[in-house]
Amino acid sequence: MADVTGDRGQLLNDIQGLGHAVILLGPPGAGKGTQAQRIAQRYNLPHLSTGDMFRDNINRETDLGRKAKPLMERGQLVPDEIVLGMVADRINQADCAKGFVFDGFPRTLQQADDLEQIAKRNQLGCTIVLHMVVNPELLMRRLTGRRICTAAGHIYNIYQRPPRRDSVCDLDGSPLIHRADDSEDVIGGRLAAYDKQTQPLVKYYTLRGLLSPVDAMADVDVVTESISRILDGVMAPK
Ligand code: AP5
Repeated sequence: MADVTGDRGQLLNDIQGLGHAVILLGPPGAGKGTQAQRIAQRYNLPHLSTGDMFRDNINRETDLGRKAKPLMERGQLVPDEIVLGMVADRINQADCAKGFVFDGFPRTLQQADDLEQIAKRNQLGCTIVLHMVVNPELLMRRLTGRRICTAAGHIYNIYQRPPRRDSVCDLDGSPLIHRADDSEDVIGGRLAAYDKQTQPLVKYYTLRGLLSPVDAMADVDVVTESISRILDGVMAPK
């Protein structure tokens, strides 16, 4: 585990001022989106979810959405070149100049290599990879029970974090939906894609000394505290 509170933390502090890329790495249902929203708020960084970007393109019926839709319905990854173009466009926007939180990217070794190049070109301060470690047996229940607010993406779980009123967001009153790929048959494909194509990134980032494991099986607030302890050593809360 990279110790970002020790020497490396000091080193990273020395380059504070340049933006940081925070990456949430973990299987479907690990809690990446839940924690990315909190990190974005605490450090005032944009939350970049490639899954949300694809779903937005599907809803708007763009060409990109038409390409991604059948793959997402089967739980397969969208090809690297499509993902990269979309991510490059997004991080070129002004709000990303001070860094960003990636949720769902990179997901393949090629995407990780591409991001490394982007980071070098843009002189990003550092890359911090939070590895959300979770027992696979928990994931099916987390995903089948997930409900998402249609207005702002607030995340609930009917088993563990239910809304106060059935199918209504506590925070903004908008309807909650069940994601199309959160059905048991598609979840199997998503988990298999993670094991085959994304899990190798754990070794990739470990070898670069960038990986910080996080116990993602703990209560949501406890997970947030663990992440804050890691990130506070690297960047200042807003
Ligand atoms: P994407 O939208 O990124 O989905 P995912 O990676 O499968 O992750 P999820 O959003 O399902 O889970 P999460 O880890 O965010 O968990 P959450 O916080 O919601 O990708 C969808 C698809 O898009 C992919 O399959 C692929 O086709 C395509 N795609 C996206 N990016 C791509 C890329 N880079 N390359 C290629 N293709 C790409 O939490 C889940 C549930 O658990 C919630 O109900 C929550 O309340 C609950 N929960 C969270 N934390 C806890 C906790 N600590 N304890 C108890 N419950 C918890």
